[in-house]
Formats: sequence, C-alpha cells, structure tokens
Amino acid sequence: RLLIIDFGSQVTQLIARRLRELNVYCEIHPYQSVTDAFLKDFAPQAVILSGGPDSVTRPGSPRAPESLWGFGVPVLGICYGQQTMMHQLGGLVETGHGTAEFGRAYVTPKGQDLPLLAEWFTEGDEQVWMSHGDHVSKIAPGFEVYGTSPNAPFAITADPSRNFYAVQFHPEVHHTPKGAKLYENFVRLAGFTGDWTMAGYREQAIAAIREQVGDKQVICGLSGGVDSSVAAILIHEAIGDQLTCVFVDHGLLRKNEAEEVVKMFRDNYKIRLIAADESELFLGELEGQSDPETKRKIIGRLFIDVFQKYANEIEGAEFLAQGTLYPDVIESVSFSGGPSVTIKSHHNVGGLPEKMGLKLVEPLRELFKDEVRALGRELGLPASFIGRHPFPGPGLAIRCPGEITREKLAILREADAVYIDQIRKHGLYDEIWQAFAAILPMKTVGVMGDGRTYDFAVSIRAVTSVDGMTADTYPFSHEFLGETMTRIINEVKGVNRVFYDLTSKPPGTIELE
Ligand code: XMP
Repeated sequence: RLLIIDFGSQVTQLIARRLRELNVYCEIHPYQSVTDAFLKDFAPQAVILSGGPDSVTRPGSPRAPESLWGFGVPVLGICYGQQTMMHQLGGLVETGHGTAEFGRAYVTPKGQDLPLLAEWFTEGDEQVWMSHGDHVSKIAPGFEVYGTSPNAPFAITADPSRNFYAVQFHPEVHHTPKGAKLYENFVRLAGFTGDWTMAGYREQAIAAIREQVGDKQVICGLSGGVDSSVAAILIHEAIGDQLTCVFVDHGLLRKNEAEEVVKMFRDNYKIRLIAADESELFLGELEGQSDPETKRKIIGRLFIDVFQKYANEIEGAEFLAQGTLYPDVIESVSFSGGPSVTIKSHHNVGGLPEKMGLKLVEPLRELFKDEVRALGRELGLPASFIGRHPFPGPGLAIRCPGEITREKLAILREADAVYIDQIRKHGLYDEIWQAFAAILPMKTVGVMGDGRTYDFAVSIRAVTSVDGMTADTYPFSHEFLGETMTRIINEVKGVNRVFYDLTSKPPGTIELE
C-alpha cells in the first residue's frame, strides 16, 4: 500500500483519487500522525508527500519523519512536499523574490531520461499547474534536474539511485494534463501492479467503521438517495444491527417512493429501519405558505425536530452516519466563510451532530459521486437505483412553486411518473442529469371533448450537468415533447396544459424554488 503524508493541501484527496483510478490502494494520513514508529508499522511500499499551505522556511513548519529517507522505498514530493524534501535532505528553500507561480506553467525537459517521465515531453514542453510562493533555490546533494519552468528552475528533480522524486507543480489536478501519467509511472516504478479495486475499498471501509464504532449504536438518516443508501448498506455490512436507519416521509416524495425505500432496506437488506410517516405534520405547517425560503426553512426545521425525536428513541446512540462525499468536503473547506450569497437554504442535517452530541461516521468522505456508484454496484444495489437522478431534500415542495396543497401534490406525482416513464421508454434516462415535472401556480382554460376545462398547468424540465452547479437544457425532439404532452394530459386528471422549461442554469436554477 501507498502512504500519502498530508501537509494540508486543498487537493490532497485528488492524489488519492488519481491513485485509485490506477487501482492502487493508498491511505492519507496527516503529517502530525506520521511518526517514525507509525511509518515502520504502516510499512508503505511507496510514499507521496502532499502540498500544503505552510512555508518550509518558517521554524516549526511540518516535516516528513526523518526515518523516511532511510526507509528504502520510492518517495514523491509535491509542491510543499518537494520543498520539505529538499530542505530535509540538505537543499535550500527560499521565499519570494518574484518566483511565486500560480496557475498554468510549461515545463521544459532537461538532462537525461527518467522513468518517472516516460511518455512525457513527447511534444516538447508540457503544461503543468503551479501554486507556490516559496521555491527551491538549491537542490539537495544527489539530486539532478529533469525539468525546468520559467519560475521554477527545479520544477522536476530526482535522485534515481535512491528513488526520490520531487516536483514543484501539482500532477493531481486536471490542469496538469499528463499528471495521471506521472502518477502511473511512479506507482509502476514502486512495483504496484494495479490490482486494487472497489472490492478492496469496501473491505477497508468496513474495517475502519468497525474500528471507529466499536460496540456503540449508529443512527443513519435515509433519504432514499444514492449516497445515504450506499453509506447505510456499507455500515450495515460492518456492524449489522448496531445500525438503525431513520426514514422520514415528509409527504413530499415521489409516487411510490416511500414504499420502495422501506421495502428495499427492510426486506432486501434486513436493515433496522424506523419509517416515520410525518406527512401530516409537514403538510400542515406548510399550509398557506408560498415564499420559497419560508417553505425551505419550515421543512429543514421540522426535519431536524422529527429526526431528533426518533433518534432519541434509539438507546445508546453515539454516532450519526452521513453520506458526505468528497466534493462536499472540499466545498465546505474552501468556501466556508467566503463572500458568497445564499441563493437557497439547502436542506441538510449539518447542525444535527453537535446539537445531539453525536459523533460522525462518514464512510464516503473520500469518494466522488461516480466512485459511490461503483461502490453501490459492488454492494449489490440494482443499476436502476444507482443511476437515479438526484432528488432534493425538500422534495416536491420546490417543484410546486407557491402554495402547496395535497391536490397539487397528487397531480404532480402522477405527471412526474408519466414523464419519467416516457424518458425511460425512449432510453434517454441515463443521458440526462435530472428530469422532473413541476406543477405551476396557475390554472388555464382548455377544451377537451366538447367541454371547457379549467385545470392546472405542468412544466417538464430536463437538464444535462456534471455537478449540478451549471446546467443546460436537454434537447428533446419535438416528437418526444408532443408525445409526452399527450400522455400527461390523457393520463393525469387535473392537467390541461404542459410547458417545456427551456431555461439553462444560470440564469435559472435546476429546481423551481
Ligand atoms: P439548484 O436548484 O440549486 O439545484 O440549481 C442544484 C442541485 O441540487 C439539488 N438541490 C438540493 N439538494 N437539498 C438537496 O439535497 C436541497 O435543499 C436542494 N436544493 C436543490 C437539485 O435537485 C439539483 O440537483
């Protein structure tokens, strides 16, 4: 296994991601915990030193354990990792003098061929991504230069006899196009064959959950979405009945959704499940409310109250499980306290753990969405479930702009079910990031048969997106749209008009509220 010593870079997790793509098993440990004893015990086959925000020139700044240099395994230092490597091995690192570099840079090859750089420099200079204030001004004894950039004369250095490699740039980010190749070369020269898989992640995560939780009880809020489901199933595999899931039906779910979730978790997976039908409570409090933020806040507050009520019934619960993903971790780190505007109060249970005195279990914290899906497949979740479009916490409330009534919700559920069925029948579901129907806060006049109608209007929306941050409208054919309109109006009572929402994001958001 490979050890990543984390010096606090924003992108350390991306190193792990690149290695996982190469099917190499790695663990990230913060530099404080990587002592000489730890290193001996961990016995890594190779070590990567991450970047970090500190300056090597500052007394007391982070270091790699001294025994690393005599450990006899390949070491790759990145950015701060490179600088502490040079510093610890007898080179010199300096601050400033106009040599800071942030962003795109080009590295020019120098000296002889290096296995680490196999298939690099095939077209001359190679683009990399830099982000550093300090720079190495003298390389350590034994090192040679293999690549230079205008502001980093020691962009790539190495001592091949000791298998020490150091780069000033960040090969883990996408703006270093051949970064993955560099990691691949590194793990190959360290002897990794790339035989580690999601099955391996599953084993390792299960062991980690058991170690963290011991014989204590864990509560997990289940939304029916992919992330919380995968987290619950994984934790259940690890600790069985020490896990209790709480599924709150707020009355704003899609057609048959509550039944399906309960059936899957209780019957198929035999997970202890409290299924709480609280729709009366939620819909009661939402009555007469039409302001989007007010609606979101009511749902968020009630959800926390209800969740807490059921969680309190679980004796001895010390942990709360969450399906937090790595992008959530990066966002909360890099954007916390930033000058961003609240567009919507997102529904989450972030404040719950402190309020209830619970510790967190987050087995998906290191994974990206596609990796969670892969883990879900590994855990035997049906493909149709894993590929489901995202569904927001406040549910149908934000697809029913204006006041929510039971009548409107019933119409919306049916219209949405017909629309999604259409999309599946035409084989388009997996091409679309998210598709849903919404019910508009208006009635219009129509004519059906020989009679006048005065019924609700439904809008249908489908977008493509990578991460939900921006989105484009899905280009259905007119034929598809016409057929869908006909089906919705014929099959759903109470609808006499269908709109197709053409708005991208921005300027629109994906949901209507
Ligand atoms: P918007 O509407 O902000 O949505 O463009 C972006 C993505 O986030 C989902 N969404 C939510 N998810 N709680 C959630 O868990 C929420 O409160 C929430 N609001 C929006 C939305 O479905 C889309 O995928």
